[in-house]
Amino acid sequence: MFDVQQIRKDFPMLRGLTMQGHPLVYLDNAATSFKPYCVLKAIENYYYNCTSNSHRADYDLSQQVDELYEGARSKVAKFIGAKKSEIVFTSGASMSLNLIAYGWGIKYLKPEDEILLTEAEHASNILPWFKVAEVTGCKIKYIPLDEKGKLTPENVSKTITKNTKVISVAQVTNVMGYVIDVKAIAKIAHQYGAIIVVDGAQSVPHMKIDVKDLDCDFLCFSGHKMCGPTGIGVLYGKYQLLDCMDPLLTGGGMNTRFDMCGDVGLQIPPLKFEAGTQNIEGAIGLAAAIEYLEKIGMDEIAKYEFELRQYMIDKMKEIEGITIYNPTADSGIVTFNLKGVFAQDAASLLNSKGVCVRSGQHCAKILMEFLKTTATLRASLYFYNTKEEIDIFVEACKKGGDFLDAFFND
Ligand code: ALA
Repeated sequence: MFDVQQIRKDFPMLRGLTMQGHPLVYLDNAATSFKPYCVLKAIENYYYNCTSNSHRADYDLSQQVDELYEGARSKVAKFIGAKKSEIVFTSGASMSLNLIAYGWGIKYLKPEDEILLTEAEHASNILPWFKVAEVTGCKIKYIPLDEKGKLTPENVSKTITKNTKVISVAQVTNVMGYVIDVKAIAKIAHQYGAIIVVDGAQSVPHMKIDVKDLDCDFLCFSGHKMCGPTGIGVLYGKYQLLDCMDPLLTGGGMNTRFDMCGDVGLQIPPLKFEAGTQNIEGAIGLAAAIEYLEKIGMDEIAKYEFELRQYMIDKMKEIEGITIYNPTADSGIVTFNLKGVFAQDAASLLNSKGVCVRSGQHCAKILMEFLKTTATLRASLYFYNTKEEIDIFVEACKKGGDFLDAFFND
C-alpha cells in the first residue's frame, strides 16, 4: 500500500528543512532527486567496512567489493530487463549518450547517412550527434513534434528514409514531459535498418522499463534522478552493438594485454568501456536506490505521480493568466509561465516562499522556438511529493502578479 507520509520518513532532506523561513518544497526532481537513508547507508558501508578497488586484487576485501560492484550491475540489468553483459556503468546519461555517439556513430556513419532527433531533446542528446555529423559528414534531421509537443510514431514514419541510420530520442523529454511510444518507434527504425537510442533520464526513474519489450538498441540513464548518487549512470546496449563499438576511454581494466608496438587486446563488454577505477560507491548506491524503488514498486510510483500531476494541473488552472505548455503530458513534468513575469524572476519569487523549481531553457534550447518563448518555469514531481506541497506551490504562484519589476514574456 503506497503511503507517501511513510515514504517521506525515508529521506533526510524531507525531515522538515526550511528555505527562506518556509517549509522546503522541492519540485525540481527532473534535475535531481533526494536520496533515501538506505542509499546513504550503502555508500557509508563501502567506505566504513570494505574500501578497496574493484576487479584488481586477490584479497577478501577487494573480492567483497567486486561482489558489490558486479552485484550492482546485475541489479541494474534485472531492473530494466537486460542481461548483465549489456550494462555499462558511466558517469550519467550524458556520458552514455556521448559513448554511443563517439564509439558507434563516428565509427560507422557515412556522409550519406542521417540521424533523426527532435527539437525537444536535451543538449546531451543533440550535441554529441552534432560532433558525429561534423566528423563523418552525415546529416541531422529533426522529426516534427505534433501540435502538443509530443513525438509520434506517425511523424517518425513521415521523416525516416532509407538513409536513416540512427533515431535518438528521449522516452520522456525534460520540458514537454510526454511519454512516447518507444516500442512503435523502434519497430519503424528497425524496418529501415536504423538503430534507436533512447534517452531514459526522465523515464527510467518513474516507470517500469523493459528494454527487451521496447526493443530499443541503447538506453541511457542517470542514477541521481532515481534516488541514487550523482556521478553514476548506465548505458544499456544490445550486446552485439556494444561488442562492435569502440570504447571512449582507454586505460586500466579495459584491456587484456598490450605491448610496446601498441598492439592492444580489449576486454569484452561491458568491461571494455570501463577504463580506470570505477565509481564504486556510485554503483553500490545506485543498486541500493533500485532496491528501494522496487520495494515501493515502479507501477505504484507511476500511478501516484500521475495522480499528483493531475491534481497539480487542476490547481494550476486556477492561477490567473498562467500558460501551461504541456497540460496533457503524462509525466510529473509541468512547464509553465506566469503572466507578465519573466521565468527566472518567478523562480526567485517561488524561492522566497520555500519552493524550488527550475527556470530557463532547461538545456532544451531548440525547443524554445517551438514554445514561442525565451524561458519557462518547470515544476517536476517525484513520488515523495504531496498534494499539500502542491497547494503551497500554487499559492506561491498566485503571488506572481505581485512581482512588479518583472519582464514581460508574452
Ligand atoms: N537534465 C536535468 C534537467 O532537465 C539537469 O533539469
